[in-house]
Amino acid sequence: MSAPTLSFGIDAPVAEVMSTMRAMRKLKPDPVPEELLVQLVEAATWAPSGSNAQAYSFVVVTDRQKMAELARLWDVVANFYLGTAGKAVPDSMTEATYERMREALRFQRDHFAETPAVIVPCYDLGPWSRKVMRNVTELRKATFELGPRRAISVGRNYHHFSSMGAAASVYPGVQNLLLTARALGLGATMTTWHQLIEDEFKQVLDIPSHVQTFAIIPVGYPRGNFGPVSRKPAAESIRWNHWEA
Ligand SMILES: Cc1cc2nc3c(=O)[nH]c(=O)nc-3n(C[C@H](O)[C@H](O)[C@H](O)COP(=O)(O)O)c2cc1C
Repeated sequence: MSAPTLSFGIDAPVAEVMSTMRAMRKLKPDPVPEELLVQLVEAATWAPSGSNAQAYSFVVVTDRQKMAELARLWDVVANFYLGTAGKAVPDSMTEATYERMREALRFQRDHFAETPAVIVPCYDLGPWSRKVMRNVTELRKATFELGPRRAISVGRNYHHFSSMGAAASVYPGVQNLLLTARALGLGATMTTWHQLIEDEFKQVLDIPSHVQTFAIIPVGYPRGNFGPVSRKPAAESIRWNHWEA
Protein backbone atom coordinates (compact mmCIF):
# COMPACT_ATOMS: atom_id res chain seq x y z
CA MET A 1 0.00 0.00 0.00
CA SER A 2 1.46 3.38 -0.93
CA ALA A 3 1.91 6.02 1.79
CA PRO A 4 -0.93 8.59 1.90
CA THR A 5 -0.20 12.02 0.46
CA LEU A 6 -0.19 14.44 3.36
CA SER A 7 -0.35 18.22 3.61
CA PHE A 8 2.44 20.10 5.36
CA GLY A 9 2.91 23.75 6.33
CA ILE A 10 1.35 25.96 8.97
CA ASP A 11 -1.91 26.16 6.96
CA ALA A 12 -2.32 22.38 6.54
CA PRO A 13 -5.96 21.32 7.17
CA VAL A 14 -6.46 20.90 10.89
CA ALA A 15 -8.48 17.64 10.71
CA GLU A 16 -5.81 16.05 8.54
CA VAL A 17 -3.08 17.21 10.90
CA MET A 18 -4.96 15.89 13.96
CA SER A 19 -5.69 12.52 12.41
CA THR A 20 -2.11 11.94 11.21
CA MET A 21 -0.18 13.22 14.21
CA ARG A 22 1.56 10.17 15.57
CA ALA A 23 4.02 9.97 18.43
CA MET A 24 7.27 10.23 16.46
CA ARG A 25 10.06 8.76 18.59
CA LYS A 26 12.66 8.03 15.91
CA LEU A 27 14.24 11.36 15.08
CA LYS A 28 17.11 12.41 12.87
CA PRO A 29 19.94 14.22 14.68
CA ASP A 30 19.74 17.20 12.28
CA PRO A 31 19.22 20.47 14.18
CA VAL A 32 15.82 22.15 14.11
CA PRO A 33 16.01 25.87 13.22
CA GLU A 34 15.43 28.07 16.24
CA GLU A 35 12.59 29.95 14.51
CA LEU A 36 10.63 26.70 14.18
CA LEU A 37 11.10 25.96 17.89
CA VAL A 38 9.84 29.46 18.65
CA GLN A 39 6.85 28.81 16.35
CA LEU A 40 6.01 25.67 18.36
CA VAL A 41 6.10 27.59 21.63
CA GLU A 42 4.04 30.41 20.14
CA ALA A 43 1.36 27.89 19.10
CA ALA A 44 1.39 26.53 22.67
CA THR A 45 0.77 30.01 24.05
CA TRP A 46 -2.36 30.35 21.87
CA ALA A 47 -4.06 27.75 24.07
CA PRO A 48 -6.28 28.77 26.96
CA SER A 49 -5.18 28.77 30.60
CA GLY A 50 -7.31 28.97 33.75
CA SER A 51 -8.35 32.61 34.36
CA ASN A 52 -6.05 33.41 31.43
CA ALA A 53 -3.24 33.43 34.04
CA GLN A 54 -0.68 32.36 31.39
CA ALA A 55 1.68 31.19 34.13
CA TYR A 56 3.56 28.88 31.76
CA SER A 57 7.20 28.78 30.76
CA PHE A 58 8.74 26.53 28.14
CA VAL A 59 12.30 25.39 28.67
CA VAL A 60 13.72 24.73 25.20
CA VAL A 61 16.86 22.61 25.33
CA THR A 62 19.27 22.38 22.40
CA ASP A 63 22.57 22.45 24.32
CA ARG A 64 24.42 19.15 23.68
CA GLN A 65 25.84 18.90 27.21
CA LYS A 66 22.40 19.36 28.79
CA MET A 67 20.95 16.84 26.33
CA ALA A 68 23.58 14.31 27.33
CA GLU A 69 22.67 14.83 31.00
CA LEU A 70 18.96 14.44 30.20
CA ALA A 71 19.76 11.28 28.22
CA ARG A 72 21.22 9.65 31.34
CA LEU A 73 18.01 10.32 33.26
CA TRP A 74 15.87 9.33 30.27
CA ASP A 75 17.58 5.95 30.25
CA VAL A 76 16.41 5.38 33.85
CA VAL A 77 12.74 6.23 33.25
CA ALA A 78 12.56 4.50 29.85
CA ASN A 79 13.94 1.29 31.36
CA PHE A 80 11.51 1.56 34.27
CA TYR A 81 8.61 1.92 31.82
CA LEU A 82 9.80 -0.93 29.61
CA GLY A 83 10.16 -3.15 32.69
CA THR A 84 6.67 -2.36 34.05
CA ALA A 85 3.93 -0.85 31.85
CA GLY A 86 5.89 -1.95 28.81
CA LYS A 87 5.21 -5.58 29.76
CA ALA A 88 1.41 -5.21 29.80
CA VAL A 89 -0.20 -4.87 26.36
CA PRO A 90 -3.15 -2.41 26.60
CA ASP A 91 -6.53 -3.79 25.41
CA SER A 92 -6.44 -1.24 22.58
CA MET A 93 -3.31 -2.80 21.04
CA THR A 94 -2.06 -6.17 19.82
CA GLU A 95 1.23 -7.71 20.92
CA ALA A 96 2.65 -6.87 17.46
CA THR A 97 1.65 -3.18 17.54
CA TYR A 98 2.81 -2.81 21.16
CA GLU A 99 6.14 -4.38 20.25
CA ARG A 100 6.52 -1.79 17.46
CA MET A 101 6.03 0.92 20.07
CA ARG A 102 8.52 -0.73 22.46
CA GLU A 103 11.01 -0.93 19.63
CA ALA A 104 10.61 2.83 19.01
CA LEU A 105 10.97 3.48 22.76
CA ARG A 106 14.23 1.52 22.82
CA PHE A 107 15.50 3.40 19.77
CA GLN A 108 14.66 6.73 21.36
CA ARG A 109 16.31 5.69 24.64
CA ASP A 110 19.49 4.66 22.84
CA HIS A 111 19.65 7.85 20.73
CA PHE A 112 18.31 10.37 23.21
CA ALA A 113 21.56 12.30 23.47
CA GLU A 114 21.24 13.03 19.71
CA THR A 115 17.74 14.53 20.10
CA PRO A 116 17.92 17.92 18.37
CA ALA A 117 15.60 19.70 20.83
CA VAL A 118 13.54 19.04 23.90
CA ILE A 119 10.73 21.28 25.13
CA VAL A 120 9.67 21.20 28.78
CA PRO A 121 6.34 22.94 29.47
CA CYS A 122 6.21 24.29 33.03
CA TYR A 123 3.56 26.07 35.08
CA ASP A 124 3.73 28.12 38.25
CA LEU A 125 0.34 28.97 39.73
CA GLY A 126 2.00 30.34 42.89
CA PRO A 127 1.94 34.12 42.28
CA TRP A 128 -1.68 34.17 41.14
CA SER A 129 -2.88 31.79 43.90
CA ARG A 130 -1.22 33.96 46.52
CA LYS A 131 -3.04 36.99 45.09
CA VAL A 132 -6.38 35.15 45.35
CA MET A 133 -5.61 34.01 48.92
CA ARG A 134 -4.73 37.55 50.03
CA ASN A 135 -8.39 38.55 49.63
CA VAL A 136 -9.21 37.02 53.01
CA THR A 137 -12.44 38.98 53.54
CA GLU A 138 -13.87 38.05 50.14
CA LEU A 139 -12.78 34.43 50.54
CA ARG A 140 -14.51 34.17 53.93
CA LYS A 141 -17.69 35.79 52.56
CA ALA A 142 -17.83 33.52 49.47
CA THR A 143 -17.18 30.42 51.60
CA PHE A 144 -19.88 31.43 54.09
CA GLU A 145 -22.36 31.88 51.24
CA LEU A 146 -21.74 28.29 50.13
CA GLY A 147 -23.27 26.92 53.32
CA PRO A 148 -21.49 24.36 55.56
CA ARG A 149 -21.93 21.21 53.42
CA ARG A 150 -20.57 22.80 50.23
CA ALA A 151 -17.86 24.70 52.12
CA ILE A 152 -16.53 21.35 53.42
CA SER A 153 -16.68 19.91 49.91
CA VAL A 154 -14.79 22.92 48.49
CA GLY A 155 -12.17 22.58 51.24
CA ARG A 156 -11.71 18.89 50.43
CA ASN A 157 -11.54 19.39 46.68
CA TYR A 158 -9.54 22.61 46.49
CA HIS A 159 -6.12 21.04 46.18
CA HIS A 160 -7.33 18.66 43.45
CA PHE A 161 -9.10 21.54 41.66
CA SER A 162 -5.94 23.63 41.78
CA SER A 163 -3.50 20.94 40.58
CA MET A 164 -5.92 19.87 37.83
CA GLY A 165 -6.22 23.54 36.88
CA ALA A 166 -2.48 23.86 36.43
CA ALA A 167 -2.29 20.70 34.31
CA ALA A 168 -5.33 21.73 32.29
CA SER A 169 -3.64 25.09 31.66
CA VAL A 170 -0.62 23.38 30.14
CA TYR A 171 -1.83 20.37 28.16
CA PRO A 172 -4.01 22.27 25.65
CA GLY A 173 -0.84 24.20 24.77
CA VAL A 174 1.10 20.94 24.52
CA GLN A 175 -1.44 19.65 22.00
CA ASN A 176 -1.19 22.89 19.99
CA LEU A 177 2.58 22.46 20.00
CA LEU A 178 2.39 18.83 18.84
CA LEU A 179 -0.08 19.67 16.08
CA THR A 180 2.09 22.53 14.88
CA ALA A 181 5.11 20.24 14.87
CA ARG A 182 3.20 17.76 12.69
CA ALA A 183 2.07 20.58 10.36
CA LEU A 184 5.69 21.73 9.99
CA GLY A 185 6.88 18.17 9.33
CA LEU A 186 8.59 17.88 12.71
CA GLY A 187 8.33 14.73 14.80
CA ALA A 188 7.48 15.10 18.49
CA THR A 189 6.12 13.03 21.36
CA MET A 190 4.30 14.01 24.49
CA THR A 191 5.97 12.24 27.42
CA THR A 192 5.39 12.40 31.16
CA TRP A 193 7.49 9.64 32.72
CA HIS A 194 10.21 12.12 33.76
CA GLN A 195 7.80 13.00 36.58
CA LEU A 196 8.83 9.78 38.34
CA ILE A 197 12.20 11.44 39.08
CA GLU A 198 11.17 15.01 38.30
CA ASP A 199 13.60 16.62 40.77
CA GLU A 200 16.59 15.18 38.92
CA PHE A 201 15.35 16.47 35.55
CA LYS A 202 14.63 19.89 37.08
CA GLN A 203 18.11 20.03 38.55
CA VAL A 204 19.73 19.56 35.13
CA LEU A 205 17.71 22.47 33.75
CA ASP A 206 17.88 24.72 36.86
CA ILE A 207 14.09 24.69 37.16
CA PRO A 208 13.11 25.98 40.64
CA SER A 209 11.44 23.47 42.96
CA HIS A 210 8.15 25.45 43.13
CA VAL A 211 7.70 25.29 39.33
CA GLN A 212 5.90 22.20 38.04
CA THR A 213 6.99 20.43 34.85
CA PHE A 214 4.25 18.71 32.88
CA ALA A 215 5.93 17.02 29.93
CA ILE A 216 9.16 16.48 28.11
CA ILE A 217 8.72 16.75 24.38
CA PRO A 218 11.60 15.58 22.18
CA VAL A 219 11.45 17.34 18.79
CA GLY A 220 13.27 16.69 15.52
CA TYR A 221 12.86 15.70 11.90
CA PRO A 222 11.29 12.24 11.83
CA ARG A 223 12.99 9.17 10.39
CA GLY A 224 9.60 7.60 9.66
CA ASN A 225 6.42 8.88 8.04
CA PHE A 226 3.38 10.50 9.49
CA GLY A 227 0.17 8.63 8.78
CA PRO A 228 -3.33 7.93 10.06
CA VAL A 229 -3.48 7.29 13.81
CA SER A 230 -4.93 4.01 14.99
CA ARG A 231 -7.86 4.65 17.35
CA LYS A 232 -11.06 2.85 18.30
CA PRO A 233 -14.21 4.19 16.61
CA ALA A 234 -15.61 7.27 18.37
CA ALA A 235 -18.98 5.46 18.70
CA GLU A 236 -17.36 3.09 21.20
CA SER A 237 -16.45 6.01 23.45
CA ILE A 238 -19.76 7.88 23.42
CA ARG A 239 -22.33 7.39 26.21
CA TRP A 240 -25.42 9.35 25.29
CA ASN A 241 -27.11 11.28 28.08
CA HIS A 242 -26.03 8.96 30.89
CA TRP A 243 -23.41 6.33 31.71
CA GLU A 244 -24.78 3.21 30.03
CA ALA A 245 -23.39 -0.02 31.41
C1 LIG B 1 -0.69 11.63 29.23
C2 LIG B 1 0.30 11.02 28.24
C3 LIG B 1 1.51 10.58 28.72
C4 LIG B 1 2.45 10.02 27.84
N1 LIG B 1 3.67 9.65 28.32
C5 LIG B 1 4.57 9.12 27.49
C6 LIG B 1 5.87 8.80 27.97
O1 LIG B 1 6.20 9.02 29.13
N2 LIG B 1 6.75 8.26 27.10
C7 LIG B 1 6.44 8.07 25.77
O2 LIG B 1 7.29 7.59 25.02
N3 LIG B 1 5.22 8.39 25.29
C8 LIG B 1 4.28 8.91 26.12
N4 LIG B 1 3.05 9.28 25.64
C9 LIG B 1 2.75 9.08 24.21
C10 LIG B 1 1.73 7.95 24.01
O3 LIG B 1 2.35 6.71 24.24
C11 LIG B 1 1.21 8.05 22.58
O4 LIG B 1 0.59 9.29 22.42
C12 LIG B 1 0.18 6.98 22.29
O5 LIG B 1 0.80 5.70 22.35
C13 LIG B 1 -0.45 7.16 20.93
O6 LIG B 1 0.56 7.10 19.97
P1 LIG B 1 0.23 7.36 18.42
O7 LIG B 1 -0.36 8.73 18.37
O8 LIG B 1 1.52 7.23 17.71
O9 LIG B 1 -0.78 6.35 18.00
C14 LIG B 1 2.13 9.87 26.47
C15 LIG B 1 0.91 10.35 25.99
C16 LIG B 1 0.01 10.94 26.86
C17 LIG B 1 -1.30 11.47 26.33
